[in-house]
Amino acid sequence: MRTQVAIVGGGPAGLLLSHILDRNGVDSIVLERQTRAHVLERIRAGVLEAGTVALLRDVGLGERMDREGHPHDGSSIAWENRPRFLIDTKKYTGKPMMAYGQTNITEDLYAARDAAGGQVIDEAANVQLHDLTSTKPYVTFEKAGAAQRIDCDYVAGCDGSHGVSRAAIPARLMKTFEKSYPFGWLGIMSETPPYPEICYCYHSRGFALASQRNPMLSRYYIQCDLDTRLEDWPDDRFWEEFKARCPQDMVDAIVTGPSIEKSIAPLRSFVSEPMRYGRLFLAGDAAHIVPPTGAKGLNLAVSDVFYLSRALTEAYRYNKTDYLDSYADTALRRVWGAARMSWWLTMLLHRFPDETPFEERMRLNQFDYLLASEHAQASLAEQYVGLPY
Ligand code: APR
Ligand code: PHB
Repeated sequence: MRTQVAIVGGGPAGLLLSHILDRNGVDSIVLERQTRAHVLERIRAGVLEAGTVALLRDVGLGERMDREGHPHDGSSIAWENRPRFLIDTKKYTGKPMMAYGQTNITEDLYAARDAAGGQVIDEAANVQLHDLTSTKPYVTFEKAGAAQRIDCDYVAGCDGSHGVSRAAIPARLMKTFEKSYPFGWLGIMSETPPYPEICYCYHSRGFALASQRNPMLSRYYIQCDLDTRLEDWPDDRFWEEFKARCPQDMVDAIVTGPSIEKSIAPLRSFVSEPMRYGRLFLAGDAAHIVPPTGAKGLNLAVSDVFYLSRALTEAYRYNKTDYLDSYADTALRRVWGAARMSWWLTMLLHRFPDETPFEERMRLNQFDYLLASEHAQASLAEQYVGLPY
C-alpha cells in the first residue's frame, strides 16, 4: 500500500489527524492494534476546552457535541469547611467549557472517517516503523496473519503511552520527564442524573470529583490508595465514601444508583522530548501523559493534532516545512503548560500520604488565596479553559 501519512493508533489523536488531513486533501491510513469495539469501550475524561470545542466545530464534528454536550461556565471546587468556589471561565475569559465524553468524540470520528471512505485498519498487529530518517519511510504490520507494508512520506505516532512510535526514537536522542503520584482515582459510571455541575472536592479524607456525560449518565471519582482492590469497593461503600468527602448540600442533591463501570487509574505526569524523529511525529498520549485532574489529556491530543495537521498540510500545499520544523517546540510549549496546570491542580486537591503539617497549611493557604484574589482566579480560569493555540 501507499499513502502520504501513515498514522499509527486509532484513538482520538490518530482519527482526528486523519479526518483533518483528509479535509485538507492529504491522504492517510490509520493502523489500530485493537478492534473498533475495544477502542469505543474505553472510558476517559469528558471536559472539553473552548479551543477543542471550536476546532471540532471548525472541522465539521460539532453537530452531535452541540446537541448532546453540556456547555457550562466552569467547574466548582468544594473545600472542606470553606465556601464553594467557581473556576469561572466565562467571567474571566469569555469562554464556556463543554462536558462531552471522549467515547462520544471517538464515535463521531469513526462515523466521519467511514462517511468519507477513510481507511482505518483495525487489529493491525506487530506494527513496525522503518527508515524514519530517510525521505521514504515505511510501516509494516500483520493483518489476519498476512504481512503488509505501507510506503509513505511521513509517519504520525498517535499510538498512546504503550505504543511503538515513541520507542522507535533512539534512546540517546530522548529525554523523558516523569512524576508518579502516591495515589489513584477510583471511578464509577452510573446511569443516574448527574450532579448539575462538575465539582472538585477537597477533604481531609481525600479528593472526590463529580462529573457527567449526559443527562442520564454520571461519572464520579474518589482518590484511593495505589493498592486499592475493586472487589473491596462495592457500590454502597463507594457512595458512602464519596458523600463523606463533599459538602452537605451536595450530598443531598446526589442521585445514587448501581455502577455500570468501575475502575482504578494511577496518577502520573510524563513528557518525552523531542516529539519528532526524522519523518516521525508524535502526537497525544504517545508523547505525554497528564494526571486526569483538570481533564487536559484529550485536549492536549487535540492541540497536538491541530499543529501537526497544519504542518503536514503546509508541506503538501506549499512545499514548505517551517511548521513541520517547529512542530515539536510549538506543541511542547503547550504540553508543558498543561503538564504544569494538571500537576498544580493535583497537588492542590489531594491528600498526600506522607505530607507534613507545613505542607497541609501551604495547600490550605493556596486555596484561601484563590478565594480572595481575582488575579489568582483569572489565572486558574485561563488555564482551565485552555491556553490559546
Ligand atoms: N499499533 C497500533 N495501534 C496501537 C499500538 C500499536 N503498536 N499501540 C497502541 N495503539 C493504539 C491503541 O489501541 C489506542 O487505540 O493507539 C491508540 C492510542 O489512543 P489513546 O491511548 O486514546 O491516545 P490518544 O489518541 O493520544 O488520545 C489521548 O486518550 O488517554 C487519553 O487522556 C488521554 O484523553 C486523552 C486521549
Ligand atoms: C471526567 O469527567 O471524567 C473528568 C472531569 C474533570 C476532570 C477529570 C475527569 O478534571
